[in-house]
Amino acid sequence: MKRDTRIVHSGLHPEKQLGAVNPPVYHVSTVTYPTIAAMRAAGHDPFNGMRYGRYGTPTSQALEEAVCDLEGGYRSVSTASGLAAIAGALTALLKSGDHVLVADSCYGPTRRFCDEQLKRNGVASTYYDPSIGAGIADLFTPETRLVYVESPGSLTFEMQDVPAIAAVAHARGALVVMDNTWGTPLFFKPFEKGVDVSIQAATKFIVGHSDAMLGVITCGNHDLWHAVKTSLAMAGVCAGADEVYLGLRGLRTIGVRLQQHQASGIKLASWLQTRPEVVRVLHPALPGDPGHAIWKRDFTGAPGLFAFEVKPCPSSSVDAFLDSLEHFSLGYSWGGFESLIIPASPGITRTAKPWEAKGPIIRIHTGLEDPDDLIGDLVRGFEALRLNS
Ligand SMILES: Cc1ncc(COP(=O)(O)O)c(C=O)c1O
Repeated sequence: MKRDTRIVHSGLHPEKQLGAVNPPVYHVSTVTYPTIAAMRAAGHDPFNGMRYGRYGTPTSQALEEAVCDLEGGYRSVSTASGLAAIAGALTALLKSGDHVLVADSCYGPTRRFCDEQLKRNGVASTYYDPSIGAGIADLFTPETRLVYVESPGSLTFEMQDVPAIAAVAHARGALVVMDNTWGTPLFFKPFEKGVDVSIQAATKFIVGHSDAMLGVITCGNHDLWHAVKTSLAMAGVCAGADEVYLGLRGLRTIGVRLQQHQASGIKLASWLQTRPEVVRVLHPALPGDPGHAIWKRDFTGAPGLFAFEVKPCPSSSVDAFLDSLEHFSLGYSWGGFESLIIPASPGITRTAKPWEAKGPIIRIHTGLEDPDDLIGDLVRGFEALRLNS
């Protein structure tokens, strides 16, 4: 089956629901059983069918089946947010005394989880330069159990050589867990590149409409899935029924949405490269970007999330730029239909190797508006920046 056909049909079972195309939204805590024998039987297999709302429903299982199919894994687990998926996977797969290697460019709250919660759990974290590749071998200790990859990082867009990192990790008996939210289940196939567990902050492109928090952890084999699902079930982690439904609904159009996010993002990024106010554009799909060769080798596309560096100027000039925009909204997150913009300070948390920029960094999520309107908005922004410099 080709990709776009999978997007439409994965996880759909109309024959089980009176022919309805989409699964019903099971709003459920209690499940009742006709007999005590049926109740006991459900207890033997709690993660299939429906035993109790927290363990999963046909709605959450439909989303998990569809995302798993697109990512190319064994089986998925849905969670209440992307961060819950990251925290849940790391908690499930690490124990006291273990050591984890984490990309220095990772999402900020992931870093905080490692520095505070994993540390409290007795797990030590070491951050690695995202450009390290096979050189990551030098950072392994006898306790290293896991490498946490995010490629590219969602503020600096540095690409990582995931297959090289995975080869080193596997040779040393360690797992590779990846935040694949930027790559989406369409543009990067984690299990073909050596990843063992892939995480989607489904809040972004899967939901796609900025109206729900959702995460999905996809595991490459039964043992990993069982370990993750059991740990999350023990901790009471599950996704809400309506959020799961919004994820399923969003997923059916992710292919066409991403086409436009991608095309408009590249148009904006290429235009920004021509602006005299811009030092550089951080977008791995642009030829000349330091990560372009890896992106071209390992990815089949790029969503419209990227950043650019402005020539050094007072912070009030950047504020004037941001305040003058009419189509870009100031807001965190990404992946929705609307364009977003934020100022970013990616260098401040880095510890493996300094990440330097001479001027301010601005991150853009390119939405589904007409890209010419978005460019017109940025023209307005640069004019405000010039007047306030
Ligand atoms: C790269 C990345 N991973 C994970 C998350 C967390 O997702 P959520 O907001 O659903 O918790 C985010 C959120 O911005 C993100 O940018």
